[in-house]
Amino acid sequence: MAASRSVRLSTGSSPVPPIFLETVLRTDRLPLRPFTAKDVNDTRAACSDELTQRWLPLPDPYTTEHAASWCTDVSHRLRTSGDGMHFAVTDGDSEQLLGTSGLKKTDWPARVSEVGYWTAPWARGCGVTVEATRALGEWLLGERGFQQLQLFAATGNTASQRIAEKAGFQEGVLRNAGYIRTGRVDLFVFSLVPDDLSGI
Ligand SMILES: CC(C)(COP(=O)(O)OP(=O)(O)OC[C@H]1O[C@@H](n2cnc3c(N)ncnc32)[C@H](O)[C@@H]1OP(=O)(O)O)[C@@H](O)C(=O)NCCC(=O)NCCS
Repeated sequence: MAASRSVRLSTGSSPVPPIFLETVLRTDRLPLRPFTAKDVNDTRAACSDELTQRWLPLPDPYTTEHAASWCTDVSHRLRTSGDGMHFAVTDGDSEQLLGTSGLKKTDWPARVSEVGYWTAPWARGCGVTVEATRALGEWLLGERGFQQLQLFAATGNTASQRIAEKAGFQEGVLRNAGYIRTGRVDLFVFSLVPDDLSGI
């Protein structure tokens, strides 16, 4: 797996917010590259799929206009805003879109980001997203020097939890998520939701 470019760092007296530069990653069989206009039809089809719609908060119906906006504009603006970056996971021979694995909600000072993904219906069951997510994690935590990659999956989304396990993630404790005087520490994750308040 090889990455083509690096993170732009702040320079001089007028600091530039950090962003990921446009990057291509490669696993043994899968190029991970930025979305382009060529991906519009496959993105529309994948994001209209029942399973994708069930687990991701996407527009319904997901139109060609939504797909075009994502592929040619929004996914790129999320990168240049510093929020993250979104890879089109593609077939090494046909170049067809197979899925996506991307970074979002990047916390640059903490060196923490969050991964999200879907696999196109025509590519499911082949380990594509495990491979892509693992490569993304290796790049982020290795070459890019990040300290933690987060992944959140609904408790009912068994397939997504399997992806996380097979890509090497561990659940329960947010490992290496906090920092104190002596260095990085693991954090437990707790939540309080509106339903909890009736019991207080
Ligand atoms: C989650 C998702 C990305 C996995 O797709 P995929 O890359 O094709 O994954 P695979 O089909 O290779 O399955 C991965 C593992 O999950 C298991 N799995 C798949 N569907 C499952 C299901 N409905 N219930 C239980 N396990 C399931 C597979 O058996 C496999 O495990 P195994 O290798 O031990 O057998 C895909 O289902 C998807 O796009 N879902 C909609 C979007 C989504 O949920 N995104 C994540 C939001 S957190």
